[in-house]
Amino acid sequence: MVNVGIVIFGTFFMTGLGLQEFDFRTDYGRNRQEWPVPYRRFDHRPKPDPYCRALYTFCPTGLPDGTIPTMKDSDTIQVFRLQAPVWEFKYGDLLGKFDIMHDAIGFRSTLTGRNYTMEWYELFQLGNCTFPHLRPELSAPFWCNHGAACFYEGIDDLHWKQYGTLEKVAEITGTQFNKMSEWVKQDNETGIYYETWTVQADPSPNTTVWFESYDCSKFVHRTYRKLADMGVTLKSTLQTNYTRIFLYSGQPSFLGNDTTIFGDGGVKSLASDIRSFFHSFQPHQSIKDFLLSLLEVYDRVVLEKSFYLYYNFEYWHLPMKPPYIRVTYEEIPLP
Ligand SMILES: *[C@@H]1O[C@H](CO)[C@@H](O)[C@H](O)[C@H]1NC(C)=O
Ligand SMILES: *[C@@H]1O[C@H](CO)[C@@H](O)[C@H](O)[C@H]1NC(C)=O
Ligand SMILES: *[C@@H]1O[C@H](CO)[C@@H](O)[C@H](O)[C@H]1NC(C)=O
Ligand SMILES: *[C@@H]1O[C@H](CO)[C@@H](O)[C@H](O)[C@H]1NC(C)=O
Ligand SMILES: *[C@@H]1O[C@H](CO)[C@@H](O)[C@H](O)[C@H]1NC(C)=O
Ligand SMILES: *[C@@H]1O[C@H](CO)[C@@H](O)[C@H](O)[C@H]1NC(C)=O
Repeated sequence: MVNVGIVIFGTFFMTGLGLQEFDFRTDYGRNRQEWPVPYRRFDHRPKPDPYCRALYTFCPTGLPDGTIPTMKDSDTIQVFRLQAPVWEFKYGDLLGKFDIMHDAIGFRSTLTGRNYTMEWYELFQLGNCTFPHLRPELSAPFWCNHGAACFYEGIDDLHWKQYGTLEKVAEITGTQFNKMSEWVKQDNETGIYYETWTVQADPSPNTTVWFESYDCSKFVHRTYRKLADMGVTLKSTLQTNYTRIFLYSGQPSFLGNDTTIFGDGGVKSLASDIRSFFHSFQPHQSIKDFLLSLLEVYDRVVLEKSFYLYYNFEYWHLPMKPPYIRVTYEEIPLP
């Protein structure tokens, strides 16, 4: 576990934000809020805005429309747990201290010998899912935060094994695989955006979780859960650790959405405060810059004890408290 707080990197200059102007205890009628706030599902996946452009094409080797091949009912499919570091983290003093991992699932058909990789990730890279763009022509911050599932033929053994994990964790029937594919399509259509942060009251295991992240490892866990619900037994001989990026805060307050905050009749001072908050944290090109941004966020929340979270396409205010931010690599057992 790495506490970002121990590494204060550089100096961050602040502007007076006057956060005290707002009464964040007002919860706009949401005082019987359910925690964690349920991740919003959509009835279909909208096309991303053309403003958002990927640095790397999403799912370049997947079949058109995300088609997942149908397996013969009588087939036996091996299931692999795949994990590898996001490569930039292998370099450099500071970066080497973080276990920032990417997770995926592999499948191999016994009948055909063909194998496949399934993963869920950002359409426009991690920085774009964590911080918005401030566009001069728009009053609301603009998010390129879509994430989606990608299924493609092949498993790159070397990539996963070299610094990570490639381990068989289960065997399923062709019927179970096909059922799982149906669910993946559904999940992919209805869960459309990536969420980097897990927000909770403190670091203890039984604490209140305010918001759950929605990322590659959450997709892997949902898939394992789905298989377990079908009666599949999952087993690993290794410790199954996953990367999580935490914010710690008191009870969050609901603020509103693009229309109610940034539209006509919105609270102008709140709108400008949110813009000013994100001004320093524009999406960055590299994972390294992303990490440096995390450290800047840390400096800032320690000073201001305040964070604006975008969740379900709505804004929340987080009254931040120690230890503020942490990146952990903790065990989450298989179901
Ligand atoms: C983020 O989005 C912007 C705007 O679409 C794009 O130019 C950039 O390549 C994306 N990715 C990264 C890593 O910044
Ligand atoms: C998930 O949605 C994305 C974005 O529309 C699409 O490119 C991808 O093929 C879909 N994946 C699956 C497995 O359906
Ligand atoms: C997947 O298939 C490729 C190509 O046949 C092979 O090199 C690789 O070892 C296979 N990996 C697994 C885990 O089955
Ligand atoms: C967390 O809850 C579990 C089950 O209620 C309990 O056994 C455990 O002692 C609790 N742990 C802490 C640190 O409070
Ligand atoms: C924002 O919230 C209001 C009130 O709940 C709602 O009428 C409006 O459609 C929402 N706007 C967006 C962009 O979701
Ligand atoms: C994996 O997680 C466990 C428990 O959460 C922890 O004790 C262990 O140090 C972690 N392993 C690594 C390599 O960080």
